[in-house]
Amino acid sequence: MFSTILPGNLNRWLGKPSSNKPKRTVLVKQLEERDRRRMLKHFLALDDSDRLLRFGTVLPDEQIEAYVGRIDFSHDTVYGVYNRVFKLVAVGHLAFAPKDKIPAGPSSTTKDRIAEFGVSVSASARGLGIGSKLFERAAIHCRNSDVDTLYMHYLSSNQTMMHIAKKAGMKIVRDRGEADAYLRLLPPNPASMLQEAIEEQVATIDYNFKANKRFAEKFFGTRR
Ligand SMILES: CC(C)(COP(=O)(O)OP(=O)(O)OC[C@H]1O[C@@H](n2cnc3c(N)ncnc32)[C@H](O)[C@@H]1OP(=O)(O)O)[C@@H](O)C(=O)NCCC(=O)NCCS
Repeated sequence: MFSTILPGNLNRWLGKPSSNKPKRTVLVKQLEERDRRRMLKHFLALDDSDRLLRFGTVLPDEQIEAYVGRIDFSHDTVYGVYNRVFKLVAVGHLAFAPKDKIPAGPSSTTKDRIAEFGVSVSASARGLGIGSKLFERAAIHCRNSDVDTLYMHYLSSNQTMMHIAKKAGMKIVRDRGEADAYLRLLPPNPASMLQEAIEEQVATIDYNFKANKRFAEKFFGTRR
């Protein structure tokens, strides 16, 4: 049986600080149709090695366009982080799939669905806790959606993802240069529901403020 942890702050889950580095507040917003163009821009800016780490292959631009075009916001949940100047610097894609579509590994879920998570952070925004925060947000959403297993697939050489997965207590299965990681989640409760609602609300306020500021700067020609 693999470990069961409570979503929330990753470090708090483990009851220990993971590093002494001060981390900024990261506001994670659920993305919608209107963010699709910025998502494409984010993915196209990933270099070959990041594309390999994110997609398991160096996806050419046309396939990235097709991938972004195919994302169904009514079925999957996509998260993003916008920086100070309203640039999308990170995208986390949480896709729900029937449990038999994902390698069972050590999972013994009784639910019909498992969630798969993939994430990328722009090179300029790494090391600020954004990847971990997106993962944490995805985990709480799974929990509140009555999904008890969060799955990630990545290259075994991806030391950062390995670190994030281990830090969360995920059960990791390595096979021929690739790794499958599984996180078992507790059922939802009022606190987990409230946490997700508040996080989304705060991120929405921040998003609207930045979007309006950006629009005003463009309109009045004051953008620097
Ligand atoms: C993986 C990725 C999403 C991480 O994003 P990030 O915002 O930089 O991650 P965080 O800032 O939350 O840091 C992650 C942790 O990994 C640690 N880390 C960073 N590089 C590391 C390395 N080479 N080896 C071990 N740990 C490492 C950090 O110190 C941090 O640890 P801490 O939280 O205990 O301090 C980002 O590097 C990325 O987009 N990579 C390319 C795409 C990819 O690999 N996607 C994953 C496939 S699903």
